Amino acid sequence: MTDLAPVLQFKGVTKSFVNGSAAVPVLRGVDLSMDAGETVALTGESGSGKSTLLHIAGGLDTADEGTVHVAGHDLGPLSDSARAEVRRKDVAVVFQQFNLIPSLTVSDNIAFQARLAGRVDQDLIKRLSQRLGLTDHLGKYPETLSGGQQQRVAIARAIAARPKLLLADEPTGNLDEVTAAEVLDQLLQLVEETGAGLLLVTHSRAIAARMKRQLNLRQGRLA
Ligand SMILES: Nc1ncnc2c1ncn2[C@@H]1O[C@H](COP(=O)(O)OP(=O)(O)O)[C@@H](O)[C@H]1O
Ligand SMILES: [Mg+2]
Repeated sequence: MTDLAPVLQFKGVTKSFVNGSAAVPVLRGVDLSMDAGETVALTGESGSGKSTLLHIAGGLDTADEGTVHVAGHDLGPLSDSARAEVRRKDVAVVFQQFNLIPSLTVSDNIAFQARLAGRVDQDLIKRLSQRLGLTDHLGKYPETLSGGQQQRVAIARAIAARPKLLLADEPTGNLDEVTAAEVLDQLLQLVEETGAGLLLVTHSRAIAARMKRQLNLRQGRLA
């Protein structure tokens, strides 16, 4: 549980899904170790298991075999509620579809995970809002914002929770090229400043090249 432990570690992780009567293997022995502050790109063809790997890393799904450590916690033996606590306190996820809560204002969306994690830092929220150009939108509802603004809210929400591990699944996949580049720059700056580890799924070679390390998922294994 020390800060020296890898922020994310997979050893021999396997995962299959049942399709009819057959078990279809998706992950066939994934090994991965990420240090705090490291940025890693995860690429692979559609259906290769990238989102599955991310869900297991985030404690949203479980491995069939192998071990998964997040921020020093071995997720395997944890109860569902203990795993949910690791997910709330140590991990944040940014999705392609933003996944904001429509009934909450921008301000409450940004504070949402920090509240769940039990560490709301109003100064940090204010700084993030300024940095991401959201100050004039804090009282609005997500549906009134552009896609780029909504994704900035999702990034602010993730960073405001001070996660040790940030998982991002095609975070700029729904944005136009110029906005995507701006949002990626902001995300990378914030990740660097906070020292969170970032595992980012992307189809884009250019985006993958911005990460410190590039991994490709193929036939259920990382290379
Ligand atoms: N909950 C699920 N139930 C059944 N099959 C699933 C489930 N989630 C993913 N799969 C299957 O696992 C494979 C990998 O999916 P996914 O991880 O979403 O790939 P990627 O994100 O690389 O496109 C696909 O064949 C998909 O259909
Ligand atoms: Mg996917």
